[in-house]
Amino acid sequence: MIILGVETSCYDTGVAVIKASGKQKPAFEILSNVVSSQIKTHAPFGGVVPNLAARDHLKNIEPCLKTALREAKVEPKKIDLIAVTNGPGLIPCLLVGVNFAKALAYAWKKPIIAVNHLEGHIIAAFNGKFSRVAGSRFAGPAVALLVSGGHTQLVLVKNIGNYKIIGETRDDAAGECFDKAAKLLELGYPGGPIIATQAAQILNSKSEIRNKFKIQNSKFKIKLPRPMINQKNYDFSFSGLKTAVLYLLKDLKQKYPFLYDRTKKDINIIPELCCEVQQAIIDVLINKTLCAAKEYKVKTIILSGGVAANEELRKQFQKQIQNTKYQIPATKFLVPPRNLCTDNGAMIAMAGYFAVKRDPDRGRGNSLSKIKADANLRI
Ligand code: KG4
Ligand code: ZN
Repeated sequence: MIILGVETSCYDTGVAVIKASGKQKPAFEILSNVVSSQIKTHAPFGGVVPNLAARDHLKNIEPCLKTALREAKVEPKKIDLIAVTNGPGLIPCLLVGVNFAKALAYAWKKPIIAVNHLEGHIIAAFNGKFSRVAGSRFAGPAVALLVSGGHTQLVLVKNIGNYKIIGETRDDAAGECFDKAAKLLELGYPGGPIIATQAAQILNSKSEIRNKFKIQNSKFKIKLPRPMINQKNYDFSFSGLKTAVLYLLKDLKQKYPFLYDRTKKDINIIPELCCEVQQAIIDVLINKTLCAAKEYKVKTIILSGGVAANEELRKQFQKQIQNTKYQIPATKFLVPPRNLCTDNGAMIAMAGYFAVKRDPDRGRGNSLSKIKADANLRI
């Protein structure tokens, strides 16, 4: 089955063509996965401006489709199904993708299916390590940590298609916290990859450099809270962490103005600050997820969403799963390849395949009129 996936829920325009087969153990081949990023449009604002994002989607979606078809060497008549994200996300952005996909379905006379963006993120993890590989048989129950710029949720996956949110953020998402902290530090947008690169200067450096930073850290008291880490629930809160960064910066500026004297290059506390922001977020995410994994006796742990592209988070997750403190028996750890962590059309096409396999009627009939964009769609 050849599936076209369309994704426009936030600031990435994604169009992909995949080949899918099998039911119990689906095999996916990603024939093309075109993503047009709008980072340049939103960077000056330090966050996504929904109407500007919708305008860019409108401009980019047709060229993305043409490239996706060309790279996949697939003609429209070979497409068996169109899968499109209908929520959750920014409504002006969702409307572009949904209406575009519906127009294609009408013009090409193809079945169309609506896909929940968050299910797309979960399914991306089933693609294993390579972009052209068979998916793995699902070992449930699983707990999925979905961490993106708009969401931070812990989802109990009883089976593919059967989801229950067991915890979520009460305010900011983890990605949003990375983005806002980077804005406070005047580092640019999106904050996640920038903070990760700054932190890597310490984490990947030789031990003398790490020690220098350790001394610096204790001198300037760079320590941030781990919000809600010890609360006996699976909810998160990241807005307090962002405020803590704000106050820490104010305090440092007042006590040590020389740190901000750009002519003095011998002391640079930015990598240390980034390391602490990143570690505070990682500590909360891992602890909550592994406590849930223990309570629900899961067989699989899934990490997905834009923040899952974070190298340190992936590495520490892998390590902590084996930490005897959590008493988790042999558990499969699934995380998508980095290019499938951030928004893309391939994950939507794959989720569309699972959806039609479990409910063939969804991909048939007069679904055109039933498909509607929904900014607050729940998984
Ligand atoms: O899933 P995604 O592409 O879009 C949404 O659905 O929101 O996630 C985007 C988020 C942004 O907040 C970005 O800062 C974060 O993912 N992100 C990262 C990394 N790459 C992207 N956060 C931490 N480390 C990264 N390497
Ligand atoms: Zn996303």
